[in-house]
Amino acid sequence: MKNIVVLVSGGGTNLQALIDAQQRGEIAAGKITCVISSNPNAYALTRAENNNIETAVIRRKDFDDFDAYDKALTELLKSKNADVIVLAGFMTILGRRVIGAFENRIINIHPALIPSFCGEGYYGLRVHEEALKRGVKVTGATAHFVNEICDGGPIILQKAVEIKSGDTPEILQKRVMEQAEWKILPKAVALFCEDKITVKDGRTYLN
Ligand code: GAR
Repeated sequence: MKNIVVLVSGGGTNLQALIDAQQRGEIAAGKITCVISSNPNAYALTRAENNNIETAVIRRKDFDDFDAYDKALTELLKSKNADVIVLAGFMTILGRRVIGAFENRIINIHPALIPSFCGEGYYGLRVHEEALKRGVKVTGATAHFVNEICDGGPIILQKAVEIKSGDTPEILQKRVMEQAEWKILPKAVALFCEDKITVKDGRTYLN
């Protein structure tokens, strides 16, 4: 059984999707053992507490420099015996140390079809604003491993979502979550826990 540690910053609907999938028995080879937040007021922490999942808070601003933060987060994740780390709306960029310590073991959910609308500055509602501004007709979500390039790691799963006339960033965000993020994130985590993902030359192979 793999220990799943989920990193959050906000509302935690993706965390909820993981909890629900676990309760339905869809993540049979893993267990959410800890939820770590960058924000002490994140509603995601309440979701974890409601489900008797251990929680912790680590804030970048409590550390003098980024390296000290990177080191502390790495130690915290090691102390929780994390086998897989899920970034479920985690809004702090990860450092080299933590990425190196958990190579191909950190899964992020991004609310667009990478390589579109991704990279530094593309997070949350901003991603949907840019997709609407550009006038794309299809967007979606991507579950991928995290490497040192922002949103540049090996892609695990993607799902497309239609853009409709009259969409606002908020409406589109909700549709992308419901139709794509909440489906592919638990699926990617389940595949990882079942050792069904192989990474070679920057690509994943699902077996
Ligand atoms: C989600 O849409 C997630 O894809 C996005 O933030 C939202 C968090 O919602 N993440 C990023 O933009 C990361 N670059 P949640 O807290 O309700 O899961």
